[in-house]
Amino acid sequence: MSRTLLPAPTAPFQPAALGTPLSPSATKVMLLGSGELGKEVLIALQRLGVETIAVDRYDSAPGQHVAHHARTITMSDPAQLRALIEAEQPLLVVPEIEAIATPELEALEAEGRVRVVPTARAARLTMDREGIRRLAAETLGLPTSPYVFADSLAELQGAIDGTDGRPAIGYPCIVKPVMSSSGKGQSKLNGPDDVAKAWDYAMAGGRVSHGRVIVEGFIDFDYEITQLTVRALDANGQITTHFCEPIGHVQVQGDYVESWQPCRMAPQALQRAREISKAVTDDLGGQGLFGVELFVKGDEVWFSEVSPRPHDTGLVTLSTQVQSEFELHARAILGLPVDTSLRSPGASAVIYGGVEATGIVFEGVADALRVPGADVRLFGKPESFARRRMGVALAVDADIDVARARAKEAAGKVRPRQA
Ligand SMILES: Nc1ncnc2c1ncn2[C@@H]1O[C@H](COP(=O)(O)OP(=O)(O)O)[C@@H](O)[C@H]1O
Ligand SMILES: [Mg+2]
Repeated sequence: MSRTLLPAPTAPFQPAALGTPLSPSATKVMLLGSGELGKEVLIALQRLGVETIAVDRYDSAPGQHVAHHARTITMSDPAQLRALIEAEQPLLVVPEIEAIATPELEALEAEGRVRVVPTARAARLTMDREGIRRLAAETLGLPTSPYVFADSLAELQGAIDGTDGRPAIGYPCIVKPVMSSSGKGQSKLNGPDDVAKAWDYAMAGGRVSHGRVIVEGFIDFDYEITQLTVRALDANGQITTHFCEPIGHVQVQGDYVESWQPCRMAPQALQRAREISKAVTDDLGGQGLFGVELFVKGDEVWFSEVSPRPHDTGLVTLSTQVQSEFELHARAILGLPVDTSLRSPGASAVIYGGVEATGIVFEGVADALRVPGADVRLFGKPESFARRRMGVALAVDADIDVARARAKEAAGKVRPRQA
């Protein structure tokens, strides 16, 4: 089978026209991962008449409810991934999660078979804390927490104590599996008694059972933000960087529980946050939206990590921006113009499952929607766990503190229970 080679992945990308879905002219986009974030990207693509393929590791994932095609595979299996992409022949492949066979995506991209958003290299570097941390700190020289990678409990202890010949990381510190997300396997260590427990917890919580960890010095930040950063084409076909208003958020055990936009920041800190975001997204390249996580203390800013895709704390933009982070991503990857302006200040609060059950029901939705300025999204996940994110409450208000209180109030009114 011969196929026209796509332009080199670094070249600006703009399809000449958009097609009609389910016809030979269709513009096909495949989402690898179809959770709540992928679902909103898929809705944005559907609105542009794109033919969508929602892939996940389990059936009836949220994004599969709103796509033309639903496929269930093990995305970390290179053979399954290649077979699906070769069979479907999408114009673009959009990773939504980290647990993907990214070297296979790099091979497919190099063969000119597909274009990966934003690039296959960005997907590979960010799926593993080591790839992105070394790039940010060692290649780009960006400020980060002090860190060491360790492959055993003894190496971890040596890194904390400085007996490995490097400066001691000391206490408090944070240990995370190199392959994990949403705070899984992550713990804060306050003293020597916590080390063995943290190692075991990281081994159980990582994506691969025999693992490697990063130990980071604890940054005593005033607050943390997500700087949504969009690389999109301008009228001259050149890639331009756009910034959304900064998003403040609160994390509990490494998982986001509430976010708000805009986050009030000293001008100096905002400028620094954007310089760091520009440097890291310039290097990762391609087109699309990135979520750059940063810690702030006074005017000092540290890079923490980056998602080359919409960010969970950015769910707030469904209410606060003219174009949500999902619409921005959909437009940027298709070479279309973007508008990152704020519509209204607002906030989001996570709705957790609370129960372990399948096919649960949600009571109190009407009460939640009666909270002034509030809105609710329920993701439709087939199975609930106590700490699984099943929905999100949103609220807008000119006063950000009021918006935060209302988002939390609305989230609290939604009561998931067994059917
Ligand atoms: N070095 C650190 N110092 C202080 N807090 C940290 C540090 N690393 C992580 N955290 C806290 O834990 C949260 C989750 O860590 P992160 O590296 O973003 O993991 P994940 O990939 O699971 O989101 C951060 O948003 C922050 O609140
Ligand atoms: Mg994070």
